[in-house]
Amino acid sequence: MWLSFLRYCILIFGVLTVIRWVLRKKWGSVDKTNEIKSKGKIVLITGANTGIGKATALEFAKRDANIILACRDLEKAREAVVWIRQKTTLGQLICMQLDLSSLQSVRNFCKEFRSKYDRLDILINNAGLMVPTYSYDRQKTADGHEVHFGVNHLGHFLLTNLLLEPLKASAPSRVVTLSSMAHSWGTIDFDDLNCEKTKIKGTLLINPLYSNSKLANALFSKELSKRLQGTGIRTYALCPGMVMTDFGRNMKGPMIWVLSIISPIIQFLLKSPKEGAATVLYCSLSKNLINESGEMYQNCGKWDPNSRIQLKDEDAKRLWEESAKLVGL
Ligand SMILES: NC(=O)c1ccc[n+]([C@@H]2O[C@H](COP(=O)([O-])OP(=O)(O)OC[C@H]3O[C@@H](n4cnc5c(N)ncnc54)[C@H](OP(=O)(O)O)[C@@H]3O)[C@@H](O)[C@H]2O)c1
Ligand SMILES: *[C@@H]1O[C@H](CO)[C@@H](O)[C@H](O)[C@H]1NC(C)=O
Repeated sequence: MWLSFLRYCILIFGVLTVIRWVLRKKWGSVDKTNEIKSKGKIVLITGANTGIGKATALEFAKRDANIILACRDLEKAREAVVWIRQKTTLGQLICMQLDLSSLQSVRNFCKEFRSKYDRLDILINNAGLMVPTYSYDRQKTADGHEVHFGVNHLGHFLLTNLLLEPLKASAPSRVVTLSSMAHSWGTIDFDDLNCEKTKIKGTLLINPLYSNSKLANALFSKELSKRLQGTGIRTYALCPGMVMTDFGRNMKGPMIWVLSIISPIIQFLLKSPKEGAATVLYCSLSKNLINESGEMYQNCGKWDPNSRIQLKDEDAKRLWEESAKLVGL
């Protein structure tokens, strides 16, 4: 009886190990030998205090870049700096306060940034949130926008627009935006940008409002590349993959029990934050992408346009115009 139990355990472990190995092959990894030099480059990362953002900051520190950790909670940002400093003494780490759920905070941040820097080599629009569906109450930003649309999209939209000058000044420069696989389940209803009519009930795990905001991220990156033609600023949108981060932090109730029971298996199979940062680094630094702009990426490579939903030019353009009105540009 014990022996057969042991045998099952070994079998399951073996199968999981094979799956883990196959997945990692598919995910690819960063090719450090094919990167543009990041020593001394100015890199701004939103939401760099945890998860993929923190792992990205560490990788840039190891490459001796000057990193600005733009976080809503400076205390958490400083903790991330301590964590990074335990791993490398290279690079510069600067914490600055940025709350993407307030357009005033975005404006203040950019003003402060512009007073300190006249260049920006790489902007990484990483911060993001997802409110779990079962506990869902319509949360709003300080400006009254639906919270996913407001934080994930509008905040980064304004931020990027207010930083175009320093980006132009350091051309060739890059804007990297974290979208998600979930963008393909999203929709943009131009008569209802705050998604008041979107049904949340009956959805599991992924909040449709999150998907909508990740579609907005993808459309934004596409339209941005068009508007920046000839400036030397390139734009890239990506899905980091399924990454073990704090992303599920807001989950409560039955879902979290299920998740914590299977969590050792999930942890074993999902990407670590470092693995999740790999495609971010690829988009930020790979020499392969020097001539590309407005495309999407995953697993350290181009995301085949035929295996994802088509982003319509007219949607990208219209979303840009509507967003500009909403943030007062
Ligand atoms: N993890 C995945 O499997 C996955 C999959 C696809 C796409 N993504 C995308 O990858 C990005 C990073 O996700 P993650 O997994 O690293 O998530 P995470 O661990 O939850 O980190 C998210 C970061 O965003 C920050 N943030 C949230 N609201 C903010 C606001 N109003 N202003 C400023 N910063 C704010 C958080 O700050 P606090 O710590 O202060 O809350 C945190 O630093 C997101 O855009 C997400 O949509 C993740
Ligand atoms: C980018 O374009 C330039 C000029 O057309 C070309 O010389 C170079 O090989 C291209 N690089 C890549 C990686 O495609």
